[in-house]
Amino acid sequence: MTLTSRELLGSDTNFAAVHGLLGSDTNFAAVRSTAPGGRAEGSANLGSDLKNSAQNVLSQFAATGVQTCFHGRHINPQILADLNGSNWRLKDYEARGGYQALRKILGQDGAQSGGDAGDVGLTPDQVIAEVKSGVLRGRGGAGFPTGLKWSFMPRQFPGQKYLVCNSDEAEPGTFKDRDILAYNPHCVIEGMAIAAYAMGISVGYNYIHGEIFAIYQRFEEALEEARAAGLIGNGILGSSFNFQLHAMHGFGAYICGEETAMLESMEGKKGMPRFKPPFPASFGLYGKPTTINNTETFAAVPWLIRNGGQAYLEVGKPNNGGTKIYSVSGDVEWPGNYEVPMGTPFAKLLELAGGVKNAKEGRTLKAVIPGGSSVPVLPAAIMMECTMDYDSISKAGSMLGSGAVIVMDDTRCMVESLKRLSYFYMHESCGQCTPCREGTGWLWRVVDRIHNGKGRQADLDLLNSVADNIQGRTICALGDAAAMPVNAMLKHFRHEFEAMIKQTPQAAAFKVAIQAAMQA
Ligand SMILES: Cc1cc2nc3c(=O)[nH]c(=O)nc-3n(C[C@H](O)[C@H](O)[C@H](O)COP(=O)(O)O)c2cc1C
Ligand code: SF4
Repeated sequence: MTLTSRELLGSDTNFAAVHGLLGSDTNFAAVRSTAPGGRAEGSANLGSDLKNSAQNVLSQFAATGVQTCFHGRHINPQILADLNGSNWRLKDYEARGGYQALRKILGQDGAQSGGDAGDVGLTPDQVIAEVKSGVLRGRGGAGFPTGLKWSFMPRQFPGQKYLVCNSDEAEPGTFKDRDILAYNPHCVIEGMAIAAYAMGISVGYNYIHGEIFAIYQRFEEALEEARAAGLIGNGILGSSFNFQLHAMHGFGAYICGEETAMLESMEGKKGMPRFKPPFPASFGLYGKPTTINNTETFAAVPWLIRNGGQAYLEVGKPNNGGTKIYSVSGDVEWPGNYEVPMGTPFAKLLELAGGVKNAKEGRTLKAVIPGGSSVPVLPAAIMMECTMDYDSISKAGSMLGSGAVIVMDDTRCMVESLKRLSYFYMHESCGQCTPCREGTGWLWRVVDRIHNGKGRQADLDLLNSVADNIQGRTICALGDAAAMPVNAMLKHFRHEFEAMIKQTPQAAAFKVAIQAAMQA
C-alpha cells in the first residue's frame, strides 16, 4: 500500500480527505491549521486531559489568522451572519434574534395568534406548511424537501418518536457543520426544537462526528445554557411543549453518516446501514418513528420561521430556498466556508474564495467536484456556466451533495485523484454488500495499476463495468458514491487515463509533479 493514512486523510478528516485527493497542498495546510480536532489529535488525547485539550483546540482555532467562516465574504448570510468565534453563547444568539422563531410558534413573541392556531402562534401543521413553502431542501446530501420529510412523521403514533441531527460530517471536502456547531450551536438547538414541535416529538439527539470532540463539548455547553433558560426540557417557555435534547458522539466512521447506520451506531451496534424499507419515519431509532436531518438543515429553520417561508424562498431561487454554506477547498486563494443564496453563480463563489490559487503564475481552473467527493467531477467550462443550486448542478451532470466544492487547477492529475478517492471508498465500505465490498477494492486496484504504469487499455472499460455493477445494487448510497466519480472521471478526463496507460510524456510529467509536491 503506497498511501499512509496521513496521506489519505491528513490529520483532519474533512480537509484531510481533500488533501489526500489532491495530493500535497498549501491551501489545505493553511486551513487545516485552523481546524478543530482531528483524527490524530482526537485519538491521542482521549484521556483525562481531553477537556483541556479540546478547549485549547477551540481557542487556537479562534485565535488563528486564517478563518473558515469569520471572513465577511458571505452574501446575505442567515446562519454564519455576524459570527466572530466568541459570540456563540445564548446571550449572543438572543442578541442576534435567536429563539424568536421558537417564541413565535409557541405564541410567546407578543404577536397575535395566526389562523386557527388557538392559543399558540403556529400550529404544527402551519410550521410544516411554512417549511414546505420555503422549499428548504435537506443539506445532508440528497436535497430532499425538509417540509415533506417532516410530514411523513406519524404524529399520532402513540409511543416514543425521535428526532436526530446528523452531525457526522465525514464527506471528504465538507467542513461546514463543525463551524455551525462551534460558532452558532443555539441555531441548531432552536431548529431542532421547532422541528420537534412540528412533528410532535419529545426526545432528540445530535450525533456528532467522533473526531471533533471539542465541538461535541461546545454543543454540550450550549445545551446546558438552553436547559437552564427553559428553552429545552419540560414545559418550554411556560408552554405544554416538552423536548429533551441530548448530544452524543460517534467514533469517526464515514459510514455512520448514512442515516440508518447512524441509528445502529446510536443503539450501540456496529454502524452498518439497514435495508430499506422500512424507512426511519416508520422504523427508526429503537424501532420507533424517527426523523433525521442534517445540522445545516436544522440551522436554516429559525430564519425561515422568523421571516416566513415565502421570504426564505425568495432569498434563493425557485425550488431551492434560502442560503447554502459551501465548503470551498483545494486550489483557491482563500479556502473556507461561504454562505451565499441558492442559485449564486459558481464563478461568483470562486471569486469570493479569491479565485484559483496562483492564477498570476499561470494556474487555471481545470475541474471542480461540486458537492463532496461522492459526486461526479465537472470540467471547468461546464462549472463556470453553473449556478450553485440542486437543479443547476444536477442538470450539468453532477450533484450539489453536501456543498463541498473541491477546486482543482491545471496541475492536478485525475488518475492520482481517482486513485485516492477509490482508496477512501474501499477503506470506508462497511462490507455488507458484495458489489460494494468487492467492487470498491477492485476499482482501487485497477486505478492503482494504471497510476503505476501497469495499466492496460481494457482497464478503462473494466473500470466503467465495475462501477456500473456497483451503482444501484447496494444497500446504501456509499456504493453509488464510489462508482459515480469513476464514470465521471472517465467521461471527462479519459485522455489522462489513456496517456498514463501509454506512458506519454504528459502522463510522466503529471506523475513527477505529484511526487515532487508530496515530498515538499
Ligand atoms: C455513506 C453516506 C454518508 C453520509 N454522510 C452524511 C453526513 O455526514 N451528514 C449528513 O447530514 N448526511 C449524510 N448522509 C446522508 C444521510 O443518510 C441523510 O440523507 C441526511 O442526514 C438527511 O438529512 P437532510 O434531509 O437534512 O439532508 C450520508 C449518506 C451516505 C450514503
Ligand atoms: S453499499 Fe457499501 S457501505 Fe453501504 S451497506 Fe453496502 S457494503 Fe456497506
